[in-house]
Amino acid sequence: MKTLFYAICCVGLLWPSGLRAAEDDESMNRFVSSLLKKMTLEEKIGQLSQCAGGFATGPDNTQLSRTTDISRGLLGSMLNVSGAAETRKYQEAAMKSRLKIPLLFGLDVIHGFRTGFPLPLAEAASFDLEAIKMGARCSAREAAAAGLHWTFAPMVDISWDARWGRVMEGAGEDPYYGAKVAAARVRGLQGDDLSADSTILACIKHFVGYGAAVAGKDYNSVDMSWGHFANFYMPPYKAGVEAGAGTVMSAFNDFENRPCTGNEDLLRGLLKEKWGFQGFVVSDWGSVGEMVNHRYAKDQKEAANKAITAGLDMEMVSECYARNLADLVREKKVPEALLDDAVRRILEQKYKLGLFDDPFRYCNEERERTVIGSERSRREARYMAERSVVLLKNEGAMLPLASSVRRVALIGGLSKSQKDMCGSWTCADESKVVTLYEAMQKRGVEVDFHEGYDLESNEIKDLKGTLKAARRADVVVVAMGERAWESGEMTSKGNISIPEQQQRLVTELVKAGKPVIVLMMCGRPVIFNEVRQQAPAILCTWWLGSEAGSAICNVLWGDYNPSGKLPMTFPTHQGQLPLYYQYKSTGRPYASSGWCAKYIDIPSEPAFPFAFGLSYTTFEYSALKVLPGDGGKVHARVRVEVKNTGRYEGEEVVQLYVRDESASITRPVKELKGFEKIALKPGEGKEVVFDITDEQLGFYDNRMNFVVEKGDFTFMVGTNSRDVDAVSYTLL
Ligand code: BGC
Repeated sequence: MKTLFYAICCVGLLWPSGLRAAEDDESMNRFVSSLLKKMTLEEKIGQLSQCAGGFATGPDNTQLSRTTDISRGLLGSMLNVSGAAETRKYQEAAMKSRLKIPLLFGLDVIHGFRTGFPLPLAEAASFDLEAIKMGARCSAREAAAAGLHWTFAPMVDISWDARWGRVMEGAGEDPYYGAKVAAARVRGLQGDDLSADSTILACIKHFVGYGAAVAGKDYNSVDMSWGHFANFYMPPYKAGVEAGAGTVMSAFNDFENRPCTGNEDLLRGLLKEKWGFQGFVVSDWGSVGEMVNHRYAKDQKEAANKAITAGLDMEMVSECYARNLADLVREKKVPEALLDDAVRRILEQKYKLGLFDDPFRYCNEERERTVIGSERSRREARYMAERSVVLLKNEGAMLPLASSVRRVALIGGLSKSQKDMCGSWTCADESKVVTLYEAMQKRGVEVDFHEGYDLESNEIKDLKGTLKAARRADVVVVAMGERAWESGEMTSKGNISIPEQQQRLVTELVKAGKPVIVLMMCGRPVIFNEVRQQAPAILCTWWLGSEAGSAICNVLWGDYNPSGKLPMTFPTHQGQLPLYYQYKSTGRPYASSGWCAKYIDIPSEPAFPFAFGLSYTTFEYSALKVLPGDGGKVHARVRVEVKNTGRYEGEEVVQLYVRDESASITRPVKELKGFEKIALKPGEGKEVVFDITDEQLGFYDNRMNFVVEKGDFTFMVGTNSRDVDAVSYTLL
């Protein structure tokens, strides 16, 4: 029926009769080539243009109502429009255009859609790729039911600097792990069939190096060598592309002294030619026009020229293409073939989404009503949220709480804040968020809530009343940290410490003599040295989305035994930033004293190392050994036994780190090169075996070639990046 609708629109007018979108590439090529031939220059430029509807997620320099342009075929895509009815309205306008090319609707669906999932950084703490993929699939299912075709996610930028607010949107500091998460998210969003009702286009962003903005300042310059980029920043972009992402977004920043949006070496050279990327590249919000601010283009016309030449296919918002490309082609400054290539790439993605079969296939209000916020979505969000929590401290096995705990003093306004629970940059339906306060009440415990401190000023509030409540309670649970809006885009901070008074409140509560459990709510690594020392139990709960309260309660009472590990190193001092575990050895390696790489006034050790996270149970590692490989791709195997030595069933992320002891370029002290999350019953043991292949031993040389060099390596296995056992190995 849907197909019939479109066929009726087009038959006899534009496309050869009987030609319909089919699944295979050949049909797609034929279809797209035939369509391209019919397009005027203006219609081609239209396909390369994206405007914002609804609301602005950057400096608003667009007109909001573009239906006339759409009906004239002068627009290929819209962002920030969603909802089956709303997208249908614009798509109907597109169906009035001469060639009836459907619009593509994109939105930043970053951590769940109406059902909110944990922040991407929090999800990464799960080290559970299946769960992460499931989360992305749920986002896609809900977003696709709301008329969307495309999300500007996943953000795969590696960052070592917690001052950068956008760390909340990525998978943390590690390139190996970041690559695995990038691929899982792309697969979750796009599935195996982009034309299915429940899948949407993914967008690998921000290409490249956005997370390395100097001094952690958003939009700042990036300066790194290709060799450094290749080993520490490139892997997640590459993995996302290899996983089949249909689109890539160019970054705001410069790279090698040229803005990424106009950087031919990156977009055409590395991405399209070297990696063979077949999808299309979209700019970031206004980033084509911003090349003038970078002083890389003298005006918008030159910016358009540089971007299209570099391989930037679709321009988001700034309209340099719409205003200048036609002249540039007529003046023979830009060959039309460049535009054709860009248009072809965009039409291909529309084709793969099935939009030429039925432009309204995603605008189904009935599906929108049943899919969004379904019980299944809620269940999946809760599952992901439980796995995102990281247990940082648990003195005297204070957690899990016994079922006999009936009276809880719940301190901190964050525990009641639906808005904050969603985390920043969210599409979630705030009114449907289960707060911690609500979840505790549902659990049937007596909750004595006190704000403890003012959420705006961070000043302690009613200390007397709060301490009285603490003394009367069986346990004290303190929800504290950053507000949700304090991380995300444009939220770089010069100080990532938790405010002093919030921390002092915890000290006072501990003095009251009752067990105190701190829930650290944050979107980035934060510094809380006083709390770290004073509080006996600390859970990092980030921002967990629609099911935040239920998930936290399940963890507090031990229905779920926490298994998360920090995807970023947590510092003790601002001066340590940027901070990361895979630093280079240097000529004067770090030591506790002497002439070496360290500070004289602050410690060099972090508060919590990368991939740190405790469990209510304990795990013992033993019998670490190197075993022979298979004589082929597997050079060797690393084997370890892990036993659950505690009282609870639990999951452990067993981690493999590798150090190259001598190489043709300087290499890090250790790098994560494998991990496995295993579940163990009390007393149960399992053998974990890591294959050592080129992936574990190799690196990129300064010419970006992946090389594997013979020689000595150290393999380290353990429960986090610091606490490891080591064995030696020689690749002959
Ligand atoms: C962000 C992108 C986002 C875009 C559209 C920009 O400001 O950097 O990540 O996709 O806005 O909202």
